[in-house]
Amino acid sequence: MPVDPSDYISLLPTVEAHLRQPPRLYIGGEWIGASESFTTTNPSTGAPLAQIAQATAADVDRAVAAARQAFDSGIWQRRMPPSERARLIWRLADLIEARAEVLAQLDALDNGKPYTTALKSDVPLSAEHFRYYAGWVTKHEGATLPVDETGMLNYTVRSPIGVCGLIVPWNYPLLMAVWKIAPALAAGNCLILKPAEQTSLSALYLAELFEEAGFPPGVFNVVTGVGEITGAALVDHPRVDKIGFTGSTEVARHILRASTGNLKRVSLELGGKSPNIVFADADLAKAIPGAAWAIFGNNGQSCTAGSRLYIQRAVYDEVLEGVADVAAGIRIGHGMWKAQPQLGPVISEEQLTRVLGYVQAGYRDGGQTVLGGQRMGGALAEGYFVEPTIFTRVADDMPIVREEIFGPVVCALPFDDEDEVLARANDTIYGLAAGLWTRDLGKANRFAAGLQAGSVWINNWGTTSAASPFGGFKQSGHGREMGKEAMDLYSEVKSVWVQYE
Ligand code: NAI
Ligand code: MG
Repeated sequence: MPVDPSDYISLLPTVEAHLRQPPRLYIGGEWIGASESFTTTNPSTGAPLAQIAQATAADVDRAVAAARQAFDSGIWQRRMPPSERARLIWRLADLIEARAEVLAQLDALDNGKPYTTALKSDVPLSAEHFRYYAGWVTKHEGATLPVDETGMLNYTVRSPIGVCGLIVPWNYPLLMAVWKIAPALAAGNCLILKPAEQTSLSALYLAELFEEAGFPPGVFNVVTGVGEITGAALVDHPRVDKIGFTGSTEVARHILRASTGNLKRVSLELGGKSPNIVFADADLAKAIPGAAWAIFGNNGQSCTAGSRLYIQRAVYDEVLEGVADVAAGIRIGHGMWKAQPQLGPVISEEQLTRVLGYVQAGYRDGGQTVLGGQRMGGALAEGYFVEPTIFTRVADDMPIVREEIFGPVVCALPFDDEDEVLARANDTIYGLAAGLWTRDLGKANRFAAGLQAGSVWINNWGTTSAASPFGGFKQSGHGREMGKEAMDLYSEVKSVWVQYE
């Protein structure tokens, strides 16, 4: 339900100034003007927000040269004590916390998500992520190995990979960037961040915080622009050693092909069509809101969205009705309304069209909606608002059940027994996340073992932590972010042999 359009939260002077900045790139510790630019819009209204630099291949080349020089000089790794590197990363976390309101306003304007969501979730999680990885700088150790050779010492060290291009999406603009930046920095790499063209504002502000924290020039660079030009130039570049990417499976295929020139390392965090299974023996008072927020959280624009809701037949009607009730009560509104909506719009007109296209396909295939299915009107008519949508009478082979929609659309599917639902849950090209709701510990653990997914949530959904690895099986990606795994993802192992006799 739309909330009342009351007052807007007023923009902070820093935010106003940031929006008025001429198009610029952050390269080698300097702000550089751009010859081309594009307009970023506010998805809550469709109105223009700011002019963003469209970095060309030549701009990307300059950024790579700056990062390369910083890396090769050793200022960020060989010649900087680990404790100092950790201190700088920690300082960045402090600055993120100190400027939380600015960052939250920028993401609320650019992405449309409610200001309070950005302020209470995205921004503090970003600060914590940097702190977690600041801790790893002084603990990412190697080993001495019991080799047979006499008079020989063999040990391993973790070395940074070099220059990393980080290409991130728009669904959690700051947080998705930080998931990559923090471990990549901690491991000693020099970085070029390419934010999504829809949401560049918080990435550019983050560059200001890097400057303020006192990072050496060239360690962190930001190039903005569309994927096909700026992103592609990074991926093609022979002096970029690694690409860390989050986004669509389609672009990931492109990146893997384009990476063959210098065989750069590629890690991929991609989409999903995650199954969420409610058993009849579940605590429905928890499972019902859990299932609703699994899909409708962030408007379904999460790689882990619980978009296939399998409900055991005995409780199908009860759970379906309950999820519909929760969804119907979600307060939706402009990201900067004081009324504190729980959800905003989807990211763009393109995404709106895509989501509504899937809804139409669902109807054509014989599906029925028990809730939603429409673009929202009234005070929200200018923005890209879609009603939370629940489909029933859909079959496992329909595109709406198989393909990632990345919007607030869930398919409710009845099932009868364990073997059946496990097979159906795993019958997907994806494998990012899966969840189940049950009071039966044996069943919970059988499913934890059997589900083909990088994250399995039992009686909860969507929990992540900087300390816990995150990533996908199958076409949901390569590699794991977060945890110690991400330190390994952004480093090489070196085996050193010393003849001492
Ligand atoms: P996308 O994959 O095109 O964009 C993600 C990032 O990749 C952006 O920074 C973009 O500029 C960049 N990019 C695009 N083309 C590129 C190329 N040729 N070379 C290098 N970088 C490139 O995703 P898009 O178009 O924004 O959304 C389309 C669909 O992708 C969504 O509906 C959703 O299904 C999926 N998606 C999944 C995400 C996830 O977290 N798993 C995040 C964003 C989108
Ligand atoms: Mg795209």
